Amino acid sequence: MHAILEEEMTARTSSPAWHQPVMVEAVLELLNPRSPAVIVDATVGTGGHSLALLPRLLPHGRLIGIDRDPEALKIAGQRLTEFQPLVRLERGNYRDLPSRLTRLGARPVDGILLDLGVSSLQLDRADRGFSFAREGPLDMRMDPDQDTTAETLVNTLPADDLARLLETLGEERFARRIAQHIVQERRTHPITTTKQLARVMTRAIPAGARHGRLHAATRTFQALRLAVNDELGALTALLAQLPVLLKPGARAVIITFHSLEDRIVKRAFLEGQGRGVWTVLTKKPRRPSAEEAARNPRARSAKLRAVERL
Ligand SMILES: C[S@@+](CC[C@H](N)C(=O)[O-])C[C@H]1O[C@@H](n2cnc3c(N)ncnc32)[C@H](O)[C@@H]1O
Repeated sequence: MHAILEEEMTARTSSPAWHQPVMVEAVLELLNPRSPAVIVDATVGTGGHSLALLPRLLPHGRLIGIDRDPEALKIAGQRLTEFQPLVRLERGNYRDLPSRLTRLGARPVDGILLDLGVSSLQLDRADRGFSFAREGPLDMRMDPDQDTTAETLVNTLPADDLARLLETLGEERFARRIAQHIVQERRTHPITTTKQLARVMTRAIPAGARHGRLHAATRTFQALRLAVNDELGALTALLAQLPVLLKPGARAVIITFHSLEDRIVKRAFLEGQGRGVWTVLTKKPRRPSAEEAARNPRARSAKLRAVERL
């Protein structure tokens, strides 16, 4: 089963039935996995990037895949079975990577991949509550065992805290107005579904400002998702630990999907380069080709940055 052609794997990783991994060629080029390397796919999702990396890790490499979403991990497990015993999948938060790799006796490693944000699996499932286009519970948890949901935040945060959250994590210029409308709505009707919240956004944002490229709810949903999952906190924590996780010559590749994440990665990479920890391999972030952006709309905002440990 291991004798799978790389072309065939590429065709399979882009099967429309699954989350389409973004910028696969650039990930392969910059991570440059070669047996017997140990590579960590710290946001393994449904395994798209891992499927492309594994043929390069044959016969003696290893891939450790982490995700906090058990549903995604289950699918990744099924898709990657033919590469056993090279693959180890673990449920958890990548911010705990240092202790996890110590437990697995795998530190330091040869490469780490982070492909941030949500997967299509999460976005497309109405019951996960990530999308304002689908009616569902206002959930947005990547880890379903976590207590706090978007519903908790929307119905319990004081107006000032809500406004600050929308401003800092959504870069929403109508944050204050939206927070006031949310508080008004929840006084009479607790906000429990995605479309109910989206309707509040449409009312809160002035009509003249509603005809831009983005739906009125886009920034609020982004802010809530980032807050529910503490996405920037996890990224910052991992970046602080990254130097001790990489062998000399090892590489880290990070794909981000909005400016807040990209700014954090860019700063940490430059700061590490200044301290002589690593060399930044991407002076400017790599972007998807026009062809990929046309084929996969989710790739359009992707920016990829990479470093090599000195
Ligand atoms: C864009 S998807 C990854 C898709 C994957 N590269 C593929 O090709 O199938 C991002 C994944 O990262 C996971 N994730 C996000 N933050 C995480 C964290 N702090 N720890 C572990 N997993 C996380 C999400 O649950 C989601 O499955």
